[in-house]
Amino acid sequence: MTDIRFDGRAAIVTGAGAGLGRTYALALAERGASVVVNDLGGSRDGTGASASAADLVVDEIKQAGGQAVANYDSVATMEGGANIVKTAVDAFGKVDIVINNAGILRDKSFVKIGEPEWDLVLAVHLKGAFCVTQPAFKIMRENGYGRIVNTTSGAGLYGNFGQSNYCAAKMGLVGLMNNLAIEGAKYNIKCNTIAPIAASRLTEDIMPPNLLEKLQPEFITPLVLYLASEANTDSKKIFNCAAGWFSRAEVVCAPGAIIGDGKREISPEEIGENWAKIMDMDGAKPLGAVGESFAFLGPLLSS
Ligand code: NAI
Repeated sequence: MTDIRFDGRAAIVTGAGAGLGRTYALALAERGASVVVNDLGGSRDGTGASASAADLVVDEIKQAGGQAVANYDSVATMEGGANIVKTAVDAFGKVDIVINNAGILRDKSFVKIGEPEWDLVLAVHLKGAFCVTQPAFKIMRENGYGRIVNTTSGAGLYGNFGQSNYCAAKMGLVGLMNNLAIEGAKYNIKCNTIAPIAASRLTEDIMPPNLLEKLQPEFITPLVLYLASEANTDSKKIFNCAAGWFSRAEVVCAPGAIIGDGKREISPEEIGENWAKIMDMDGAKPLGAVGESFAFLGPLLSS
């Protein structure tokens, strides 16, 4: 295929001062994009702030001959999001690409989790994506072009002990993608979501060193670049990725069982009797939008 290039494109990468985001910013710039390197520069649990994280990545990009500008706002406020987008518009005149990547962890088992851990994790991951993407989306819509990549997690898609706040926030990003893909469709705005596994300060103490060696963040970067490029025409898709493995994940709807007729009450015993059929995933498929689920009611709606 022809080279994936980003000449003339303006990209925002949130949380680009370290880990995965840094690799996206470097790679986008290397292929011609002008990049806003956003990073609050805090610690893994979201405390503190420092300009140096974003500045170092901007220096790296500039030294390699690329174009970048730093932004130190938190994604977690409306003002921060607006300012991140303003940074792109002031420096590059527009926004074509948003990579919602900034993230923190505040792990605790569900019974121990308190409001601060819940609120902060939801604020950075989920509200943060809203705060940055909404002002960017308005510009993309005017320009008739946009590529948005959200970051979920296997923890959100499949579950993980001790991460109720993170699991909920990360699955929320899938819901946001579903909406953005639909609302962006007629403006050539594509939104997709990745679920990466990579060595970073978020994972350095939860996986053994020999595994971490294979999970370089750079192995996630090509998928993000492809999804952020003009070559990508897919939207509303979720991808697992790690160490060179790339795989689709989907929320699907199964045909299930038609037990009632839309008129009579159904007993819980009938649910039990039909349990195997309700549980059967044969013929399950993804839906373009919620309205398509009515197709499964077929005979019920026509009778
Ligand atoms: P990281 O900790 O190396 O990088 C995250 C960056 O986000 C940091 O530089 C941090 O300063 C920045 N950040 C945090 N809060 C911010 C805020 N309010 N505003 C702006 N920047 C902020 O972590 P990593 O591993 O690179 O994670 C990147 C994304 O990938 C996160 O959303 C994370 O949840 C997700 N992810 C990572 C996985 C992994 O295996 N590393 C697994 C699944 C998801």
